[in-house]
Amino acid sequence: MSGTELMSPESIASQRDAFIERFLGFASGTFSLFSIYIGDRLGLYRALAEEGPATSAELARRTGTHERYIREWLEQQTVTGILDVQDETHDSGARRFALPPGHAEPLIDCGSLNYMVPMAQLLVGAVRPLQSLLEAYRKGGGVSFDEYGSDLREGQAAINYPAFWQQLPYEWLPAILDLHDRLQVNPPAQIADIGCGYGWSSLGMARGYPHVHVDGFDLDEPSIERAQENARRNHLADRVHFQERDAGDPSLAGQYDLVTAFECVHDMTNPVGALATMRRLVKEDGTVLIVDERVGDTFTAQGNDVEWMMYGWSILHCLPVGMTEENAAGTGTVMRTDTLRKYAAEAGFRNLEVLPIEHFFFPFYRLTP
Ligand SMILES: C[S@@+](CC[C@H](N)C(=O)[O-])C[C@H]1O[C@@H](n2cnc3c(N)ncnc32)[C@H](O)[C@@H]1O
Repeated sequence: MSGTELMSPESIASQRDAFIERFLGFASGTFSLFSIYIGDRLGLYRALAEEGPATSAELARRTGTHERYIREWLEQQTVTGILDVQDETHDSGARRFALPPGHAEPLIDCGSLNYMVPMAQLLVGAVRPLQSLLEAYRKGGGVSFDEYGSDLREGQAAINYPAFWQQLPYEWLPAILDLHDRLQVNPPAQIADIGCGYGWSSLGMARGYPHVHVDGFDLDEPSIERAQENARRNHLADRVHFQERDAGDPSLAGQYDLVTAFECVHDMTNPVGALATMRRLVKEDGTVLIVDERVGDTFTAQGNDVEWMMYGWSILHCLPVGMTEENAAGTGTVMRTDTLRKYAAEAGFRNLEVLPIEHFFFPFYRLTP
């Protein structure tokens, strides 16, 4: 019901109260996320996990932090249900706090598919340019990726790292049988990875397929520097190279067996231009693989399971970064299949197939040149 004239004062009051309860839940979740950011960045969770329960003074000593702040944070974490207190009736300085065993993996295991902390870092990054964002909402235009800073970049890389390192090479690509075969044989398959960020998708593919060569491209210089460092650290720099390039750059050349774009087409100011580049780079019998966000086929009031989150990223980050140029597409995170199909057709692809690979957040699209 939307018309207030149809509602009794009692119904309005009960709708109000239900909304206030949800509103308080919004605030509580926001506080929790920012508190998790503090615990992660200062190594507080890790210190509790590795060295055991601690008083505020012990934890401050272990982490080189200030006791008074740590005491407040520990108590906040306890009333929020993130940490346990062992002796709540003791004087505040004598209470000992612990990380519940089941909370360790989401909070500190950066290689786990259950690692959740990057979500907090991403959200902190997403609100960094809040004033520029309000300005863009008023006047149009966008907010540059650079303005979101290192928390956004790092959070993005960290949230996808476990899946790119484990599932991409050992589950997702093997599920595409003809591609899996091609990636295993000689001559070595050539892969281009567009919008590669810190490079974990490029490196994951090289990890799983020991013959392939991968060129990763991204227009963000700090991301490319980190990708190059990640390649060196993982001893893959001989087969994986990263370059700072705009996906729409007409001089981007080469012939590749596989061209990929992970979670980035919806961020691009000119997605059709980027797809046209991918069309140009792929061999006639090659594969173009787009992995983007799992959203519904159409807008509905309640959205699908994850649209509440996708719209959240969209209003704070993906839409504004996709609006930074004149005539920008302004796609936003909620890029529905039909939108991508239209972009792909405009870029010269004959067909778009949704692959039968199950993932909570990602759909997998194969484009036919
Ligand atoms: C959401 S991040 C995804 C990064 C990485 N693929 C991942 O899944 O973690 C989007 C990336 O696309 C890059 N990007 C946006 N527009 C681009 C363009 N026109 N050319 C190349 N990279 C672009 C951004 O710099 C950013 O690194």
